[in-house]
Amino acid sequence: MNTKRLTTEDVTQGAAVIAAGGLLGIPTETVYGLGANGLDPNAVAAIFAAKGRPQDNPLILHIPDPSWLERYCADIPATAYALARRFWPGPLTMILRRKAIVPDAVTAGLDTVGMRCPDCAVTRAIIAAAGVPVAAPSGNTSGRPSPTTAEAMLEDMDGKIDAIVDGGPCAVGVESTILDLTAAPPRLLRPGGVTLEQLREVLGEVSVDEAVTRLMSTNEQPRAPGMKYRHYAPKAPVTVVSGEPEAAAQYIAAHLEPGDGVICFNDYVNLFEGCPVEAIGPADDQESHAQHIFEALRAFDHKDATRIWAQSPDPTGLGLAVTNRLNKAAGFHIIKL
Ligand code: TXA
Ligand code: MG
Repeated sequence: MNTKRLTTEDVTQGAAVIAAGGLLGIPTETVYGLGANGLDPNAVAAIFAAKGRPQDNPLILHIPDPSWLERYCADIPATAYALARRFWPGPLTMILRRKAIVPDAVTAGLDTVGMRCPDCAVTRAIIAAAGVPVAAPSGNTSGRPSPTTAEAMLEDMDGKIDAIVDGGPCAVGVESTILDLTAAPPRLLRPGGVTLEQLREVLGEVSVDEAVTRLMSTNEQPRAPGMKYRHYAPKAPVTVVSGEPEAAAQYIAAHLEPGDGVICFNDYVNLFEGCPVEAIGPADDQESHAQHIFEALRAFDHKDATRIWAQSPDPTGLGLAVTNRLNKAAGFHIIKL
């Protein structure tokens, strides 16, 4: 198939791809998504095929406006509306009870569904014009780092999707926060663009699922099925070094062997002269770390590196999402200083 390149002007063409049951690459503020009509089981099946995604991993539905929640969700708690008012459109996915109209193909048979209203005008306009919710996982081949540019998504999906809308680089750079509102207290299943601290400002108590901070063994069932899979992984093995930035950089420099690559803060690039380095921003700039982490991981697939060392930010604020993605890329192979 010849994948058409669309621009942010092409709302009608994008909506036509969705309405016809096709696959459309969509920009969002978090990462690019692989979208299809979320009410059409055949279109949804095509998403799984294009990504090579395990069948037991449910998809989230994207809507253009919070008022669409009632179409697909039942027993919506008041907290969902409070969160929508504060964070939508934006990088928050809420897990709610689903209505029967949502196909099993989307939810992998669960009685809940993830709902998200993205902060990206062209994508909301396409969904509204198509008149159906858009099921969309991140636009990578299953297991690879999520794409934050149209070019990165095409590396994985060129020829496998009908079209992609190029909306430029994603502003946030890591996927949405996933919050399970069917649990009491609400439970963070995946850290993302909306921070745990921000959620607690609105909700008070929020628990953190164990899968966020540690490796799940093969016989465990995390609440977000996707959290059990090895993820975000470049081809070379990754080791995360956490701790005070200067000490972590010095540790990596001391243990570096010829052929190794490094992901580090801009402040320490000069320690690693002569080896492949990806800088993800100044040590104190969490937004920059989030924007650059997936490109850094992807970049190593085009470079020869035997092993990759990565500096890890503080797990506070947006840093919780960045450390989670790095730790998963490393299979939780972490050196704590
Ligand atoms: O930012 C994002 O959320 C991006 C953009 C494209 O919107 N989408 C995204 O989708 O990251 P995906 O499929 O790559 O990740 C969704 C995660 C998976 O780990 C999945 O298991 C979990 O959400 N999930 C989906 N539905 C769920 C449900 N009903 N209950 C628990 N977890 C669910
Ligand atoms: Mg994904």
